[in-house]
Amino acid sequence: MGKFFICFLMCSMFFCFVNCVEPPKDEYDCFFNFITKINLFSFFPKINATHYNFCSVNIKCDEVTGTIKDVTILNTLTSGYNNQAILPTDLACLPNFSRIFLQNLNISKELVFYQFPQTIYEVTYNYENYACSPIDQKLPDIPSFFFYCKSISGTRIKMSHIMNQRLFNLKYSYVYFENDVIATHNISMVAFTATSLNFADFSNFKSLQTFSMYFNQDFVISSIQNFSTIIANSIQIEHDTGILYPFYIPLNNFTQLLAITALFEKPISLINLSTYGFKQLHLLHVGNEFNLNGEIPIIPPHDCYFLVYYGNFNVFPNFSIITGSFGSYQSNFSITLPPYSGKGAMISLINNNLIGTIDESWCNVNLVIYKNKLTGKIPSCFTCYFSDPSIFNYFSGNQFTNYNQSIGCSEFAPRFQLLDISTKTFRVTGINIGFYPNNWLLNSVDSPYSTQIISMG
Ligand SMILES: *[C@@H]1O[C@H](CO)[C@@H](O)[C@H](O)[C@H]1NC(C)=O
Ligand SMILES: *[C@@H]1O[C@H](CO)[C@@H](O)[C@H](O)[C@H]1NC(C)=O
Ligand SMILES: *[C@@H]1O[C@H](CO)[C@@H](O)[C@H](O)[C@H]1NC(C)=O
Ligand SMILES: *[C@@H]1O[C@H](CO)[C@@H](O)[C@H](O)[C@H]1NC(C)=O
Ligand SMILES: *[C@@H]1O[C@H](CO)[C@@H](O)[C@H](O)[C@H]1NC(C)=O
Ligand SMILES: *[C@@H]1O[C@H](CO)[C@@H](O)[C@H](O)[C@H]1NC(C)=O
Ligand SMILES: *[C@@H]1O[C@H](CO)[C@@H](O)[C@H](O)[C@H]1NC(C)=O
Ligand SMILES: *[C@@H]1O[C@H](CO)[C@@H](O)[C@H](O)[C@H]1NC(C)=O
Ligand SMILES: *[C@@H]1O[C@H](CO)[C@@H](O)[C@H](O)[C@H]1NC(C)=O
Ligand SMILES: *[C@@H]1O[C@H](CO)[C@@H](O)[C@H](O)[C@H]1NC(C)=O
Repeated sequence: MGKFFICFLMCSMFFCFVNCVEPPKDEYDCFFNFITKINLFSFFPKINATHYNFCSVNIKCDEVTGTIKDVTILNTLTSGYNNQAILPTDLACLPNFSRIFLQNLNISKELVFYQFPQTIYEVTYNYENYACSPIDQKLPDIPSFFFYCKSISGTRIKMSHIMNQRLFNLKYSYVYFENDVIATHNISMVAFTATSLNFADFSNFKSLQTFSMYFNQDFVISSIQNFSTIIANSIQIEHDTGILYPFYIPLNNFTQLLAITALFEKPISLINLSTYGFKQLHLLHVGNEFNLNGEIPIIPPHDCYFLVYYGNFNVFPNFSIITGSFGSYQSNFSITLPPYSGKGAMISLINNNLIGTIDESWCNVNLVIYKNKLTGKIPSCFTCYFSDPSIFNYFSGNQFTNYNQSIGCSEFAPRFQLLDISTKTFRVTGINIGFYPNNWLLNSVDSPYSTQIISMG
C-alpha cells in the first residue's frame, strides 16, 4: 500500500513534469475567462485549488513557451454549461493558435467571419443543434473550413464567399451554390465537399482534386447539365434513393474516379462509355429500372474498375468487353454462372443468387463470389490459396463440397518467361499460380521484379 502510494505520487509528478506546460499568464487568463463564460471547467483537470491544467485534453500548447496553439472544444455535455454565443473577443487574446475546432457550442456569426491576425490553417465549426447564420459574406482567409450546421438549408452560397478556401466542407444543410466569380478568375480550391441542392457552374475551379456532393430529394434536376463543368481527379455524388434520375454520367469526361449513388431511369439504348477516361466507375445503387432486357446497359471504359451495385439483371455482362475489373453486389443475377472468357483482372459477383458451379475457365481471373448459391468443387487455382483468410472468404456463403481452409495444394507448376531483363519484366503462366504476384519469391528472393507483371493465368 505504502509503496503503491509513493509510486503513484512519483509517477504523477513525473507525468506532470513532462506534460504540464502552462500557457503564459495573459493567455491563461484569457482562456480562463472564456471557459468561465461558457462554464465548461469540468473538461479540465485541476492543478491545485485555484488553477486548471488547460494544456490538456484537446488544447495543444507549445512544449517550450506554453502558448496555446490548437483549441479543440468538443462539448459532450447536454446541460450545465452556458450557451452564450462564442465571440471573436473570447479567442482574440490567444495570439498564437492556428487551428480551432468547436463542437456543440453556440458559435456566433461574428466568429465565423472574423479574420484573426495570425495565420489559421483550419477551423471546424460543428453546431450540432445550435442554429448558424447563412454563409452570406466572404469567409476569412483560412485554407481548411469545415462548417457543419443544420439550420441553413435552402440558403444560397456564392462562390465568391468561399473562394479563399482550399478545402471547403459543408454538412447537414442542403444549400444552393451560385458561381458569381468571373469565368476568367481561376478558383484554386482543391477539395470541395457539400450537401447541396444543385450543381453550380464549376468551370473556373481549375485545381480540384476531390469533389463530393450529397443531394436530397429537393435536388434541382435542371442543374444536371452543370455536371459537365466539374474537372476533378475524383468525383463522388450521392442522391437520395427515392427518385429516378437520367443517367447523366456521360456529360462528364474529365475525371479519373467517379462514384455515384443514384437510382437511374431505364435507358433508351446501350450506353457506350468505351472511349471515356474513367479509371474507376462505381455505380453504387442503380436500382431496378436501369437495364436493357435484363442486361447491364453500359459498355464500360477501357481498363476501368467498373462496379454496379443494387441492380436488377438476369443476363451476365459480356466479359469480353470488360477489360478492367468488374464488381456487382446484390444485383439479382439469379442465373447459372457461365464459363469465363474475358480479359479482366478481377471479377466480383457478391450476394447475387448465382447457381451452378465454378468452371475451370474462371482460373483466368481473380474471382470474388461470396454469398451466392453455388455448388460443386471450387477449382484448385483458388483452393490452393485458402490458407489466406481473405481469399478463403471470397468463396464463403455458398454450398461448395470442398470449402475447407486446410485443403492444401497438390500441384503448383509455374513457368517463368523473361521478357525484358532491364526492367525485370517476366511473364508467369502455369497451374495454380494464384493472383497475387507480390507474394511470390523467385530463387528465394522476395519480389525480384518490377510491378510490370504482364500476365497471369
Ligand atoms: C497553483 O498552481 C499554480 C501554477 O502551478 C501556481 O502558480 C499557484 O501558486 C498555485 N496556487 C496554489 C494555491 O497552490
Ligand atoms: C446563442 O447566442 C445568442 C447570442 O448571445 C443568443 O441570442 C441565443 O439565444 C443563443 N442560442 C442558444 C440556443 O442559446
Ligand atoms: C506568441 O505570440 C506573441 C504575440 O504575437 C509572440 O510575441 C510570441 O513570439 C508567440 N510565441 C510563440 C511561441 O509563437
Ligand atoms: C486558368 O486556368 C487555365 C487552365 O488551367 C489556364 O489556361 C489559365 O491561364 C488560367 N488563368 C489564370 C488567370 O491564371
Ligand atoms: C448551371 O450553370 C449555369 C452557368 O453555366 C448557371 O447559370 C445555372 O444557374 C446553373 N444551373 C443551376 C440550376 O444551378
Ligand atoms: C463503342 O464505341 C467504340 C468507340 O467509338 C466503338 O469502337 C465500339 O464499336 C462501340 N461498341 C458498341 C457495342 O457500339
Ligand atoms: C474522353 O476523354 C478522352 C481523353 O481523356 C478522349 O480520348 C475521348 O475521346 C473522350 N471521349 C468522349 C466521348 O468525349
Ligand atoms: C461479346 O463481345 C464480343 C466483343 O465485342 C463479341 O464478339 C461477342 O459476340 C459478344 N458475345 C455475346 C454473347 O454477346
Ligand atoms: C430478381 O429476379 C427474379 C427472377 O428473375 C425476380 O422474380 C425478382 O423480382 C427480382 N428481384 C428484384 C429485387 O428485382
Ligand atoms: C478440412 O480438411 C481437413 C484436412 O483434410 C480435415 O481434417 C477436416 O475435417 C476438413 N474440415 C471440414 C469441415 O470438412
